[in-house]
Order: sequence, then C-alpha cells, then structure tokens
Amino acid sequence: MNFRTRLIFLLALGLALPVFAQDPAVSAEEQAVLDEEARLEAEEAAAAPAANDPTAPNPAPAHPELRPVLDQFGGEAGLTKLMDTFMAGLLADEKMGPFFANADQARVKRQLVEQFCVILGGDCTYTGRDMKSSHAGLGIDRADFNRLVEVLQVAMDQHDVPFSAQNRLLAKLAPMHREVVTE
Ligand code: HEM
Repeated sequence: MNFRTRLIFLLALGLALPVFAQDPAVSAEEQAVLDEEARLEAEEAAAAPAANDPTAPNPAPAHPELRPVLDQFGGEAGLTKLMDTFMAGLLADEKMGPFFANADQARVKRQLVEQFCVILGGDCTYTGRDMKSSHAGLGIDRADFNRLVEVLQVAMDQHDVPFSAQNRLLAKLAPMHREVVTE
C-alpha cells in the first residue's frame, strides 16, 4: 500500500468510525423498535394458518349417501352443538387437554363442523387446512388418536346420536390417522 492509498484508507476509516460509534442510548432505542418489529412478525407468522400440503389427501371428502346420517346428527346446527360438548370434553381430558389448551378452540370447532358436515353429504364447504398440515409438529401418537375418538364418542352419546350413525362417521374419520399420527 503506497502513501496515497494509505491516506485514502485512513480518511475512509475516519469517516466510517463515527457511524459505528453511535450514541448507545439511541441505538438501544432503535434496537428496541427492531426487536418489537421482529416479535410482531413472529406473532403474525404463528397466527397465520400454515399452507396446505398439495400432496395431502382431501380432508373433507363428500359422501352424499350419508346425508340421512347428517340428519341423525341434527344437521349443521346439531354438529355445532356437538362440537361445544366435544371441545369441552377434550379440554377436561388429562391426555387431550394439553393439545387443545392453546389452540384457537373456536376455529377448530368451526372447522370440525364444516368438515363433518361435508363428509356427511351436507350442503357445506370446508375452509380449513388438510389433516397433515393441521397436525404437523403436534407429536400425536396412536394412543392420542384413539383417545380423541373416545372423547368424540362420549360427546355423541350425550347428544343421543344413534350408535349406527356414530359408526358411519367414525368409519370416514378412521383413515385420517395416516395424516394425523406422526409419532
Ligand atoms: C380423525 C381425527 C381428527 C380430525 C378429523 C381432526 C380435524 C381437525 C381439524 C378440521 C382441525 C382444524 C384445521 C384448521 O385449522 O384448518 C384440527 C386442528 C387441530 N387438531 Fe385435529 N383432528 C383429528 C385428530 C386430532 C388428534 C388425535 C389430536 C390430538 C391429540 C388433534 C389435535 C388438533 C389440534 C391441537 C388442532 C389445532 C392446531 C392448530 O391450531 O394449529 N387432532 N383438527
């Protein structure tokens, strides 16, 4: 490095240094703003539903032949009441409670009503995510899956859904263990 280059280098360093040596109070404030922005972004990302997996099976296959079964559930209104009991049962259950305690319970109930309504041949639309994306990362094992079905059965009993109608629905839900169970 010749003298001239060294001079230019030192001058540039002199100009750059004040930028790095900022008032610590101001930079702490700026940092706080940046931290808050990052926190809000993370919150938004967590709240936004994850994208659907295009390779996942249809979470709500319609079975028009099951329309009479939907009537035995009391139609969409009956399903809405059933889901209140079901969610209360899940939250009260020692094994299921921790899975649902921090979930958006109103959303899950709404999606379940739509899903069951479509499956049972109702004139509804399922607007939720596929089963693989909905349950990814929850660490659900086969025993958890079976327990959820038991809690659902208790709720259906409480709503006087005939045993045969319960079984028609459960037969359509059972294969979903392939997407829901990950452990
Ligand atoms: C056939 C069985 C199951 C069906 C049909 C089902 C259906 C659903 C539906 C429709 C949603 C909402 C999807 C959305 O947000 O778009 C959901 C979410 C959820 N399910 Fe299931 N589920 C089943 C099994 C299970 C099991 C066994 C567990 C745990 C033991 C579980 C835990 C959850 C939780 C915690 C959420 C909320 C996830 C979130 O908020 O991100 N599910 N499920």
